[in-house]
Amino acid sequence: MYKNIYLDAPSVGALEKDYLNKAISAGYVSTAGGYVSEFEKKIAEYLKVEKAVSTQSGTAALHISLLELGIGRGDEVIVPALTFVATVNPIMYVGARPVFVDIDRQTWNIDSKKIEAAITYRTKAIIPVHLYGNPCNMDKIEKIAQKHKLYVIEDATESLGAKYKGRYTGTFGDFGCFSFNGNKIITTGGGGMVVGKSFEKIDHIKFLINQAKSLDNSAYHSEVGFNYRMTNIEAALGLAQIRRLKYFLAKKRKFKNIYEEELRPIAGICFQREEMRAESSFWLTCVIVDNRSAGFLQSKLLEQGIPARRIFMPLMEFPFCQRGNRGDFSNSYYLYERGLCLPSSTLNKENDIFNVCKVIKNAIK
Ligand SMILES: Cc1ncc(COP(=O)(O)O)c(C=O)c1O
Repeated sequence: MYKNIYLDAPSVGALEKDYLNKAISAGYVSTAGGYVSEFEKKIAEYLKVEKAVSTQSGTAALHISLLELGIGRGDEVIVPALTFVATVNPIMYVGARPVFVDIDRQTWNIDSKKIEAAITYRTKAIIPVHLYGNPCNMDKIEKIAQKHKLYVIEDATESLGAKYKGRYTGTFGDFGCFSFNGNKIITTGGGGMVVGKSFEKIDHIKFLINQAKSLDNSAYHSEVGFNYRMTNIEAALGLAQIRRLKYFLAKKRKFKNIYEEELRPIAGICFQREEMRAESSFWLTCVIVDNRSAGFLQSKLLEQGIPARRIFMPLMEFPFCQRGNRGDFSNSYYLYERGLCLPSSTLNKENDIFNVCKVIKNAIK
């Protein structure tokens, strides 16, 4: 029985405490204080974009991006059939309809070859998701979007630090949305970020998430606004975490390499494949065991005290997602039935990962 092996728990320590203490000592625990803008600047610098706006969550980042693009009732938005439900909930918030496209069996991302067949006169946008940190083929997606005049909102909530052809994920689309939830690459406890190509739109998002409060600080509100602001305390945590981002990414890559080297020789085990010239953030390393159900392996790991999580359930399973979504989603179901996310937290040590591999080998030999 193993102890202290973590799936996706965050690494939070002395540096984070230091930043949090400074925020508390200064008396700025809510939305006032300098850390929010400092954190936005650091993220923008890291991603090599001009501007970034922090939000309360990745879900809020996606919601506000859809609103900013004027997507609403009667519109359709193309999304992969296999992703976390938080990719589609914001589409429901604005009254649009998610249209699902099956994923590619190798990369586990939206199959760009199948996108055009899903486009109708109602389609307004594509939300590609860099699943588990693995970059989508943005060349192909951008080409389709340009041809059909569609917006692209990247769901980069799981892929901070991942690159496609040398550029960070989240910086290709009209908007890129990030999450700093407790289990993500870096955490602010809970929070998100939007980056985008248009200064004007990013500034407008900044205005909307602050209750659409007039910039001269008068009591006038010209639009319906949102309280989607990050707090100074959250940003303090983020500032500490971003200083450790390189370390987190290197550790996650190392874990992925150990899993691959140890498990790849076993017949029937497959990993998520990266596109040419893509570098995943390896948020979570996941495997498919071709001839075993995900539940079987999950229970074998759990018996030894090792946490593992099923792959996301295909969205067509949810009653609120079913309208109009019939088709061939066999790859999504194939992965859901066989795939498992393995311990990938940066709290783990390399030896923990070798131990997980040992249990997997024993379970399926
Ligand atoms: C693919 C995906 N989209 C959106 C989100 C939403 O992010 P948040 O939890 O910060 O709202 C998450 C993470 O939870 C996610 O994994």
